[in-house]
Amino acid sequence: MARKVVAGNWKMHGLGSDLPRIEAIASQSAAAGCEVLLCVPATLIERACRVAGPDMAIGGEDCHPKAQGAHTGEVSGAMLADAGASHVILGHSERRADHGETDAIVAQKVEAALEAGLIAIVCLGETLSERDAGATLSVVGRQLVASIPTDAEADRLIIAYEPVWAIGTGRTPTTNEIAEVHAHLRAGLARRFGPEKAADVPLLYGGSVKPNNAAAIFALPEVDGALVGGASLDPVDFGPIITALDPR
Ligand code: PGA
Repeated sequence: MARKVVAGNWKMHGLGSDLPRIEAIASQSAAAGCEVLLCVPATLIERACRVAGPDMAIGGEDCHPKAQGAHTGEVSGAMLADAGASHVILGHSERRADHGETDAIVAQKVEAALEAGLIAIVCLGETLSERDAGATLSVVGRQLVASIPTDAEADRLIIAYEPVWAIGTGRTPTTNEIAEVHAHLRAGLARRFGPEKAADVPLLYGGSVKPNNAAAIFALPEVDGALVGGASLDPVDFGPIITALDPR
């Protein structure tokens, strides 16, 4: 069975003045029976690690495919790890859309992240027109195969299914639709890594996860947690999502 994970994605939010919120989320994590992880802008990683302490992991939100070089403004996986990050989000749909990241580029970034010792949270998901065209399963299946480099180890991966049209919109797929995609992704992982290793890869759902829908999503088969954007910014919203995954 895969470990249960709630991951926050702060996107382009977060200044030093927000560190008390990270500290508050970390203290909620201390009592949680699931893994809690907060992915923050690179500028905040080192300070976030300091306030989070041992109870919550801190991740980056992207990295360059190379470890170093003449790439002004870029941040490598090695730099994220050096700052204290243990994870990195890769292939988020905002990166795919805003920066033209293809599956091949995402795979290179995943390789670089694994090389740097990070756990890669690989994001995939269909657009609204792909869903309307009935292409969801073929799109996410293709992204899964093509975004994971050939030599990746299953135990260094987390997969996040994030329908593009559900991110930041307050809309979510039905629970049946989420379950269908997660079953498809689990089968794809099994073809790639074998059923045993595939079963241990956390499969997260992302896209408008809120305190009022988290429990229903977490109850679905093959859903091991969530990647949470907007609701991770405020401990008042993020706390109940963490509790929904681990209702002790
Ligand atoms: P959202 O974002 O929870 O604000 O929809 C999710 C994400 O982009 O990871």
